[in-house]
Amino acid sequence: MNSKIAILGGGNLGQAIASGLISDHFKPSNIVITRHKTDLLKSFKEQGVVITSNNIEAVKNADTIIIAVKPYKISEVLKEVAPEISSNKLLISVVSDFSIEQIKAQLQFDPVIYRAMPNTAASVNESITCIASNTSDDESTTNVKRIFNALGETIVINEQLMDAATVLGACGIAYVLRFIRGMIQGGIEIGFDAHTATQIATQTVKGASELLLQKGNHPEAEIDKVTTPKGCTIAGLNEMEHQGFSSALIKGIKTSYDNISK
Ligand SMILES: NC(=O)c1ccc[n+]([C@@H]2O[C@H](COP(=O)([O-])OP(=O)(O)OC[C@H]3O[C@@H](n4cnc5c(N)ncnc54)[C@H](OP(=O)(O)O)[C@@H]3O)[C@@H](O)[C@H]2O)c1
Repeated sequence: MNSKIAILGGGNLGQAIASGLISDHFKPSNIVITRHKTDLLKSFKEQGVVITSNNIEAVKNADTIIIAVKPYKISEVLKEVAPEISSNKLLISVVSDFSIEQIKAQLQFDPVIYRAMPNTAASVNESITCIASNTSDDESTTNVKRIFNALGETIVINEQLMDAATVLGACGIAYVLRFIRGMIQGGIEIGFDAHTATQIATQTVKGASELLLQKGNHPEAEIDKVTTPKGCTIAGLNEMEHQGFSSALIKGIKTSYDNISK
C-alpha cells in the first residue's frame, strides 16, 4: 500500500492501528503519528514511522487521515486541520460518540466522511472494525476497508448502529478479557499455577471462537457437544447461569450502551 496515512492522536488506539498496519507490511515511512508527548512514540520512530506534534503538517502530506483523539478533543483538532482537508483526502474518524454530521459541521465543505470503530486487537491484526459513511461511493469504501482489513475483519454498518458497535466490538475486548481473568482465577483455585492457567484459558477462548468462526454454528450447538447428561460441564454451566452469568453480561452491555453519551 503506497497511500500516506496520518494518525492524529497516537494513544492506545492510534498506536494499535499503526502497529497493525506495520505488521501487515504497510511501509512505516508512509505513516505519520501525532501527539503532544512524542517521546512516548519512540518505538515507532525507531521503526521508521514519522512522529510529530504538528497536525497541520501531518494532514498536508497525507492521503488518508485517521482521527484518533478522545471525543472531547476532536472539535479542536478538526478546527485546526480543516483548512488542509480537501475532497481528495480520505477522512476517517475512530472517535466514539461523535457523528458524521458533527464532523461535517466543523469543515468548510461537504466532504466524504467515514467513521470506523476498531478495537485494540488491531495491534495484532485481529480487530473487528465496523465502518459507516455518508457516501455510497464503492471505491472510497473499498479503500477504507483495505486499511482496516489490514487490522483484522471489517463490516459496513449503518451509522445509527455506531454506538452499538462501540459497545459490542470496542468495549467487548474488555468484557472478554475480564472473562478470561475469571477463568484464570478459577483455574488457580483448582490447582494450576497462574502461567499454566493463563495458557489454558487463553487458548480455550481462542479455540471456542475458532469453532464458531470456522463452522458457523450457533454457540449452543457446540455447547451441546460438551455437556454429557448429569456431567460436570452442565452442572458448572447451570450454576453459572443460576448466579446470573448471561444476565450479568447482557445487563453490562446495556449499561455501557446507556452510558456512551454521558
Ligand atoms: N481504546 C479503544 O479500545 C478504542 C476503540 C475504539 C475507538 N476508540 C476511540 O479512539 C479514540 C482514542 O482512544 P484511546 O483509547 O486511544 O485514547 P488515548 O489513549 O487517550 O489516545 C488519544 C491520544 O490523543 C493525543 N492527543 C491529544 N490531543 C491531541 C492533539 N491536539 N493532537 C494530536 N494528538 C492529540 C493524546 O496524546 P498527547 O496527550 O501526548 O497529545 C493521546 O495519546 C477515542 O475517541 C475513543 O473513543 C478507542
